[in-house]
Amino acid sequence: MNAIQLDSKGCLKHFLGIEGLKSDLLIKILDTAASLINNKAVKKVPLLRGKTVVNLFFEPSTRTRTTFELAAKRLSADVLNFNINTSSSSKGENLIDMLRNLDAMHCDMFIVRHNAVGAAHFMAQHVAPQISIINAGDGQHEHPTQAMLDMYTIRQYKGDFAPLRVAIVGDIRHSRVARSNIHALRILGVSELRVVGPKTLIPKGIEALGVKVFNNLKSGLRDVDVIIMLRLQRERMQSALLPSANEYFQSYGLTEERLKIAHPEAIVMHPGPINRGVEIDSSVVDGKRSVILQQVSNGIAVRMAIMAITLGTLSEQKESH
Ligand code: NCD
Repeated sequence: MNAIQLDSKGCLKHFLGIEGLKSDLLIKILDTAASLINNKAVKKVPLLRGKTVVNLFFEPSTRTRTTFELAAKRLSADVLNFNINTSSSSKGENLIDMLRNLDAMHCDMFIVRHNAVGAAHFMAQHVAPQISIINAGDGQHEHPTQAMLDMYTIRQYKGDFAPLRVAIVGDIRHSRVARSNIHALRILGVSELRVVGPKTLIPKGIEALGVKVFNNLKSGLRDVDVIIMLRLQRERMQSALLPSANEYFQSYGLTEERLKIAHPEAIVMHPGPINRGVEIDSSVVDGKRSVILQQVSNGIAVRMAIMAITLGTLSEQKESH
């Protein structure tokens, strides 16, 4: 993947996945995002003035699409939104023709969400050389900007990654967020990384990625500093992998009581959409350990940083000063 996402100088040209990236680059994204936040707010900056960013969403999304749109607008870019279910693909136009048309309109960046693994990667191989592609989620594969906003949030609350114990809980098998987060947390060097969930929802051989597997929630949560909860991705489940939502909550739902097993200062994260009462109790979502809405806010600055880095406009700005 890096053969495509990095240019000949090792700079990020497209942002397709976390796997294989160096920690320096991840830290650069986090530091750039931090530099865009001033007094908790993200100011409008001219880093992408004159550029056109296109949101190409082949799968529905609210949070991710809107934070990308806000991020592009805060960078002073022009933004086009395509909800592909309702536009040209239903008329049979093929993807390459669509990309050629957008290229002819002098677009600079495509933000792509698609249910097929490798969709963003495929586009990066076929677009004109001046265009950057950002993967906003490809099937069950990766969701790298979500991982970066999660890393930002962890660093904000916990500082250094090295001493941390992190647990990712729930439907690991169908989750691109889990996969990107596992890569990012390994690259940034947390001391212990756990995945917790029923056997049916944990892919076989995942230990090879450097994680410990727990099928019991209580043992998985013991003394962890960070808990990343995931929803059941029922739309991706081929067969009945699970008992009812109620039974799932009995075994794997995060409640106030179970949260006490973790470190007293543990933070609770969730990429959304949340299913209250299925993977997490409402009181935990709204409780004092939850940083879930902070994740959403951080998504704007982190996506701004990734857009400016891939289009190479940060260095231009420095040079012009
Ligand atoms: C995630 C996604 O779409 O992969 N959500 C998100 O981006 N905020 C997780 C999910 O759908 O469960």
